[in-house]
Amino acid sequence: MSLMFAERMKNLGTETSFEVLARAKALEKQGKDIVHLEIGEPDFDTPGNIKEATVKALYSGYTHYVASAGIPELREAIAEYISKTRKIKADLEEVVVTPGAKPIMFFCMLACVNPRDEVLYPNPGFPVYESLINFVGAKPVPIPLREENDFRLDPEYVKEKITKKTKLIILNSPENPTGGVLTREDLKDLADCLADREDLIVLSDEVYSRIIYEGQHESITSLPEMKEKTLLLDGFSKTYAMTGWRLGYGVMRKDLAQKISQLMINSNSCTCAFIQIAGIEALKGPQTEPEKMVAEFKKRREIIVTGLNKIKGITCKKPRGAFYVFPNVKGTGMKSKELADHLLNRAGVAVLSGTAFGEYGEGYLRVSFANSVENIQKALNRIAVAIEKR
Ligand SMILES: Cc1ncc(COP(=O)(O)O)c(C=O)c1O
Repeated sequence: MSLMFAERMKNLGTETSFEVLARAKALEKQGKDIVHLEIGEPDFDTPGNIKEATVKALYSGYTHYVASAGIPELREAIAEYISKTRKIKADLEEVVVTPGAKPIMFFCMLACVNPRDEVLYPNPGFPVYESLINFVGAKPVPIPLREENDFRLDPEYVKEKITKKTKLIILNSPENPTGGVLTREDLKDLADCLADREDLIVLSDEVYSRIIYEGQHESITSLPEMKEKTLLLDGFSKTYAMTGWRLGYGVMRKDLAQKISQLMINSNSCTCAFIQIAGIEALKGPQTEPEKMVAEFKKRREIIVTGLNKIKGITCKKPRGAFYVFPNVKGTGMKSKELADHLLNRAGVAVLSGTAFGEYGEGYLRVSFANSVENIQKALNRIAVAIEKR
């Protein structure tokens, strides 16, 4: 007998990177050598001081339920960190800790967005945004990110698309998949469009805030009047190479924080207690390891951008943040998905089609440089040959 799934499941999307990883692993099982450039996580180990603090926490009783919004010491450390880095005054009651940053997106949609509301989101962009917008029955309104504009959104376009029905605007800077970074001017222009809207919220996804190569990270929450309207999402996965630990958080107005905590009570109860101690060590301990990681990414960025630009049919802009490049592959004459499949099957290089991030990703690939220089070089050579010999 086949199970009848709930109607809403028809609207839920997925993340293609997990699917491509599975295909790449299957090819490896057949004995093929694959270079993994589809990955969305740092290829570095979590710093030792964080691991040590966690082991200590395990042996000192952090093995039970804790407060659903997070243990006060971590919420306090996050409030201090956000106050300092975003130049706002955040306090503990405005922080909710979650298992990874992703639940903040989900909870934000559940808490704030009604069916038929409109949600603006970057496209190409993190695929979970569109998936969740559809899941809650809202209308997805894509904001195209264009290469000519360094993959930064155009505030004028956003202004045109805001209607009475707009409930949520999603921002992501530095951006996955393009590496685009919003400037303070962009954010000011956006904030101006929202000046007379008290009924609208901005979900500002800043998980790559520390992986930035030029200038500094800017957050919309630090602009006048914007803190009240912003749900800032950040976490530990990318900054501290802690993707498997599942630790993230949101910083938001208190009434919204209470709703998000209630969703935590109804889903996870709380975030793992000893992992939260790891979070305190990450924020308060030495920052040399994450800084070294960014320096290494910067070196690789040069190599991958230079290498891709030498390949016929490909041009590649230098991303200002995150650890992805988003090369234009229109000159190869192939569709993005066709090229990504060709590279995996023929060249043993796993990359993602730009369309895995929305329709405006056609003509591009997402290539991660969270891999060694040696593997990046190997991949570049293979891509060049695979495109030439096609
Ligand atoms: C833009 C963006 N936001 C959020 C996340 C999820 O972060 P976490 O692993 O902490 O849930 C990712 C992960 O790839 C991401 O790229």
